[in-house]
Amino acid sequence: MTIPVITIDGPTASGKGTVAARVAQTLGFALLDSGALYRLTALSALEAGTDLGDEPALAKLASGLQVVFDGERILLAGREVSDAIRAETVGVAASKIATLLAVRAALVDFQHSFRQAPGLVADGRDMGTVIFPDAQLKVFLTASVEARAERRYKQLIGKGFPANMAALLQDLRERDARDTERALAPLKPAEGAHLLETSVLSVDQAVAQVLAWYRAVGH
Ligand code: DC
Repeated sequence: MTIPVITIDGPTASGKGTVAARVAQTLGFALLDSGALYRLTALSALEAGTDLGDEPALAKLASGLQVVFDGERILLAGREVSDAIRAETVGVAASKIATLLAVRAALVDFQHSFRQAPGLVADGRDMGTVIFPDAQLKVFLTASVEARAERRYKQLIGKGFPANMAALLQDLRERDARDTERALAPLKPAEGAHLLETSVLSVDQAVAQVLAWYRAVGH
């Protein structure tokens, strides 16, 4: 029997992480935050002083990640890094190393290993297009850059990080361009993906819509 997968892709700060976590919780499914894997690799590289263009060294870091997902906590080699990987510097570095083939390839098997009964909700950029092309339901979240900057601002301030709205807007625009225009696994809706514009939706409404679509495909 195939293990069902729901993919939720979208740009940075589109709310996909929150929506994915809530959908997974409601269905009792496992959760894959694939962006965290790129962030963990980026954090390891920044801490080790690895050049962000050194593809073989970065791929080695990616394939050797010793990570434990424990609910909301993320442990890297036994150290809690849940907040550290959310820093903007780490997000920007993640988006840069995510353009490299060897880094992406090094993370494929690890991502597939999250597909466990009774099901998986996976969020990222290429979940529906590359990693789980046979997913039962594919969702593509969008939201205006302003709405996303506001969300990221609140998220950063809430975690005690400094944040500046103008700098965040510019950062999001640059990150969107890099994630969308890259040659490998670019950010784009998968074929057959349901589009969900979340600028004016509450989290509850977005979660309810995803669950309704999932029921509609026979689950
Ligand atoms: O979703 P996020 O902001 O945590 O992701 C951080 C970066 O990781 C993002 O800018 C691009 C990269 N990423 C990716 O290339 N593919 C994914 N499936 C998830 C994230």
